Amino acid sequence: MNSSTRQAALITGGSSGIGAIYADRLAGRGYDLVLVGRDADRLTAVAEAATRHGVAVETIRADLTKVADLRRVEERLRTDGAITVLVNNAGIGAAPGLADADVDALEQMIQVNVTAPTRLAVAAAHAFSAAGRGTIINISSALALAPELFSGAYSGTKAYILNLSISMRQELAPRGVQVQAVLPGATRTAFWGPAGDHLPAAMVMDAEELVDAALAGLDAGEDVTIPSLPDRADWDAFNAARGRLGPNLSRQHAAARYGRAA
Ligand SMILES: NC(=O)c1ccc[n+]([C@@H]2O[C@H](COP(=O)([O-])OP(=O)(O)OC[C@H]3O[C@@H](n4cnc5c(N)ncnc54)[C@H](OP(=O)(O)O)[C@@H]3O)[C@@H](O)[C@H]2O)c1
Repeated sequence: MNSSTRQAALITGGSSGIGAIYADRLAGRGYDLVLVGRDADRLTAVAEAATRHGVAVETIRADLTKVADLRRVEERLRTDGAITVLVNNAGIGAAPGLADADVDALEQMIQVNVTAPTRLAVAAAHAFSAAGRGTIINISSALALAPELFSGAYSGTKAYILNLSISMRQELAPRGVQVQAVLPGATRTAFWGPAGDHLPAAMVMDAEELVDAALAGLDAGEDVTIPSLPDRADWDAFNAARGRLGPNLSRQHAAARYGRAA
């Protein structure tokens, strides 16, 4: 890209893990970067590594649970016409179980995993629609499809992101904006903390492989990318089953099995 056509990608959680690999790969594709996170040292380290691709990198220290910080990032998306890619990646987990959960920690997770990506997606959708181009990559999780595993609340935040993405895709495709949901399985990052050491190796993907596969899915125009899923037809069958429920999800009368005479 020359200076007059330069485009930039804004990556939340660009300071580590999956976000740091997106930073490297999108810089490799010629995007300038705006990296968002709380940890200044880690942001700087990722930024310095990305500049070897010859792109401009800016870091924004922001805690996405803080209203003023989140609004600053939204404002940047709304006003910086060079930004054509949003990677909604920042996210945190939660301990399994609800009855004994730290409810404040759950609320914070919802702020990072749901509220922030929603506000940022809206800001990007508005700006990108007006420009008639742009890409929104929302990092969901394979756990969106598996509420019985791990934390149901975490799964719920990621199911929210999946549903939001599917709906946004439908709305924004006619306006020239591409939307992709990425559903990583267990990925080797700081996300798991020490618990990551106990995950079976056969279940855990390196973040580099995960992001490269997700970008291949983006290039292929996928709406939903599940990097570890061997057969895409399995997702299509799941989606088709969901679609078959459609005509019967809202009807005038209850089903016969609930006691109403046919
Ligand atoms: N690793 C997995 O197995 C896995 C699987 C499926 C989905 N995911 C999803 O992938 C995404 C990235 O996670 P990761 O695996 O790369 O984990 P990670 O290495 O722990 O990265 C999480 C990122 O989120 C940022 N973040 C957390 N809280 C924040 C806050 N309050 N404000 C701003 N930024 C915040 C962190 O930046 P700072 O610390 O600098 O703030 C960090 O850059 C998350 O959405 C996660 O749910 C991960």
